[in-house]
Amino acid sequence: MKPPHTEALNPPERLLMGPGPSQVHPRVLRAMSTPLVGHLDPVFIALMNEVQDLLRYAMRTENRWTIPVSGTGSAAMEAAFANVVEPGDTVLVPTNGYFGSRMESMARRAGGTVVHVDAPWGRPLDPDDVRAALAEHRPAVFGFVHAETSTGVLQPGVAELTAMAHEHGSIVILDAVTSLGGVELRVDEWNVDVVYSGAQKCLSCPPGASPLTLTDAVFERIRARTEPARSWYLDVGLLEGYWGSERSYHHTAPITNVYALREALRLVAEEGIEERWARHRAVAGGLKAGVQAMGLEMLADDAWWLPSLNAVTVPEGADAKRVTRRLLVEHGIEIAGGLGDLAGRIFRIGCMGYACQPWNVLRLIAALGEALRLEGADVDVAAGLAAAEETLSPDS
Ligand SMILES: Cc1ncc(COP(=O)(O)O)c(C=O)c1O
Repeated sequence: MKPPHTEALNPPERLLMGPGPSQVHPRVLRAMSTPLVGHLDPVFIALMNEVQDLLRYAMRTENRWTIPVSGTGSAAMEAAFANVVEPGDTVLVPTNGYFGSRMESMARRAGGTVVHVDAPWGRPLDPDDVRAALAEHRPAVFGFVHAETSTGVLQPGVAELTAMAHEHGSIVILDAVTSLGGVELRVDEWNVDVVYSGAQKCLSCPPGASPLTLTDAVFERIRARTEPARSWYLDVGLLEGYWGSERSYHHTAPITNVYALREALRLVAEEGIEERWARHRAVAGGLKAGVQAMGLEMLADDAWWLPSLNAVTVPEGADAKRVTRRLLVEHGIEIAGGLGDLAGRIFRIGCMGYACQPWNVLRLIAALGEALRLEGADVDVAAGLAAAEETLSPDS
């Protein structure tokens, strides 16, 4: 038998403007091709400290316990729920998007009893509903999503919701997978107890090492658990041995992913976190102006628009799957369709990190416009391009 697949790996160049992964900066790719050192090598241990410092900078926190979890965003999410939720705890989660349901599954597996605060997909949580749900259920844990990738909704008032939860004695877990590094996020100022994120969204890094931060008070609570966390791999008490002062073996860190994250975070620090938030707003603002002028609608209201993920409604007569496929095959651009009930009804267009640049927005609008015109949809591509250009112009 001939040995299989001896041909070289040759993935195509794509412009990644979907819900993630996003375009990776060439400097990050270069960092990934540097020599491997051991996960307990003094050089790597120094680098671990640097990554922790850089993460604290990007997350706006002084939390000692700030680490990249080995694995994708869901690993960091599971680390949060598996450690904080104890069997029998009541956990309040939202119903307004796909990732609230994932929180629910994880909270259940951790032994929690799940209750909901409801809002329709495409809308944020209403503070009055949160207050009522907290008063009714008195949850030990309240989890919610800062930037809902399934709907393009940015949850306003994180600090306000967190303060409400604290009044009821609840610990807050915030999903910042699609906000970290692209949208204003202030962990300490907003007083959030636990925040997790991913590398492959606004940090423009390949997935594989995912930020997690938690306060000393939460860490102590985890240490005082009567039953150990149900995950050995993600047990914060055990991970402390590796990421804390001991630096002893727990598992072999994904070294190359940690290199990549360091470089991605260095890019964030060089740009400045606030400047980066401003860039996302400005460039995604051009995208929003462009699609609207073309004749399309945003799913989310302006008051809770999420610059890093733009949910755009599919116009009459167009087939969303055919359009996204055409964009990929003919234009080399990745965008995505909707999830769940929103499948076929929205396009999800990311404007994240390295891809979040005016020239990419113009390329996307031109390609999307052409693909929609070929579907027979009533779109004005020239008006879309003109509006985007005008919004993105340095003088506007
Ligand atoms: C809001 C949100 N939470 C969690 C996740 C899970 O992250 P991952 O797919 O990296 O495991 C995602 C991924 O898209 C996300 O968008």
